[in-house]
Amino acid sequence: MKKIAVVGTGYVGLVTGTCFAETGNQVICVDIDTKKVERMRNGEVPIYEPHLDVLFERNIKANRLRFTTDLQEGIKDAEIIFLALPTPPGEDGSADLSYILGVSEQIGKLITDYKVIVDKSTVPVGTAEKVHATIAQNATCDFDVVSNPEFLREGFAVDDFMKPDRVVIGTQSDRAKKVMGELYQPFVRQGNPILFMDEKSAELTKYAANSFLATKITFMNEIANFCELVGADVDKVRIGIGSDDRIGKRFLFPGIGYGGSCFPKDVQALVKSGKEENFEFQILTAVMKVNEEQKTVLFPKMQNFFRGNLSGKKIAVWGLAFKPDTDDIREAPSLYMIKELLKAGASVTAYDPEAMPNVKQLLGESIQFATNEYEALHDADALLICTEWSVFRNPDFDQVGAVMRDKVIFDGRNLFDMETMNKHGFYYQSIGRGIKSDN
Ligand code: UDX
Repeated sequence: MKKIAVVGTGYVGLVTGTCFAETGNQVICVDIDTKKVERMRNGEVPIYEPHLDVLFERNIKANRLRFTTDLQEGIKDAEIIFLALPTPPGEDGSADLSYILGVSEQIGKLITDYKVIVDKSTVPVGTAEKVHATIAQNATCDFDVVSNPEFLREGFAVDDFMKPDRVVIGTQSDRAKKVMGELYQPFVRQGNPILFMDEKSAELTKYAANSFLATKITFMNEIANFCELVGADVDKVRIGIGSDDRIGKRFLFPGIGYGGSCFPKDVQALVKSGKEENFEFQILTAVMKVNEEQKTVLFPKMQNFFRGNLSGKKIAVWGLAFKPDTDDIREAPSLYMIKELLKAGASVTAYDPEAMPNVKQLLGESIQFATNEYEALHDADALLICTEWSVFRNPDFDQVGAVMRDKVIFDGRNLFDMETMNKHGFYYQSIGRGIKSDN
């Protein structure tokens, strides 16, 4: 059992704190937001993440998971202090470290015995060094700074945390290595590795992993766009190349672009770090450009279908979140499409199982929200699919056709096969499937 403080109760901090409590550690989470801390103390999980609520409640009840607004109280007894603070992109795209360094300064003033301070946030190469220097300005006792990036996917975060493919720990201190190794032992019982490396390599591993995945998706999106031109089917090509172990089947699904809180921010930050070293990430620069364009590929198709006049058309939108199983709408392709549709004079009725409150906050009354996927379709001239929620995968097509004004679907996530669409008499446009069935 270890005593742990987690500073910052955003998405990463909450999952980290809760999962460490679940493995028997004593965890105290620190946040400056008084209202949020109050809500969490009452057992309320402030984000939507499958399975987190059960673990959250169980560990609060067991008194292994506690919350405070007082940093001093939070770190007093902790052997390990996780920093899970935001690193928003500044105006120039580089990660803003002011939260992390601000808290580091306070930690330096507060600690009185040995602590391992862990960077959990995604931070540019060299941050551990900066955190170390900031704490050292005031600290009067020994401490180590470790880089321990997270590889959590929203929607699967609890599972990813409990059964990680690998744990990356960046430190050159044997003392910190021992503490961190013991902490993560319960999570790697299945045989996946704990990879010890230096701080900088650990920091870069996180950026390189996300940038590689963003590149893989973007490559596939370009192949999809080309498939449409030459009459090939991207699903066939995807399976054809993914069967090669060297390529792998995952992260090859084309769509209307990647979004979320990680890929866009991390690719941009890595490109920016490169610039600071007079190094140009040529591939990643192209990835960012292609992804921005990919968010737009369905709009001209819709315009064409309506002969350039979307004014007065009623468009149903299925899916607002940047991906399924989350209420996160950051950089969501749906937002781009809705903005363009409204600009063109169309009206929008949307349905998303989780993300509607967040979109309501952002877009207010400019669009309508439905209580389920069929209600969104009433009198719609077309359906636009932006997120592949499971609930959209197998609809009653007779009901869909019956409630829509016209049987037209623009699918940004390739949920349906062409034969089914033809059989039910839908006009159907998706991504990268140039081959049309005969009828
Ligand atoms: C990602 C990383 O997977 C995770 O390891 C890291 O810690 C944080 O960033 P996340 O942003 O939650 O996680 O979502 P992920 O499931 O990776 O999807 C990212 C984006 O790529 C989504 O917009 C998704 O729709 C898109 N995507 C994913 C595709 O377009 N095609 C694919 O084949 C896979």
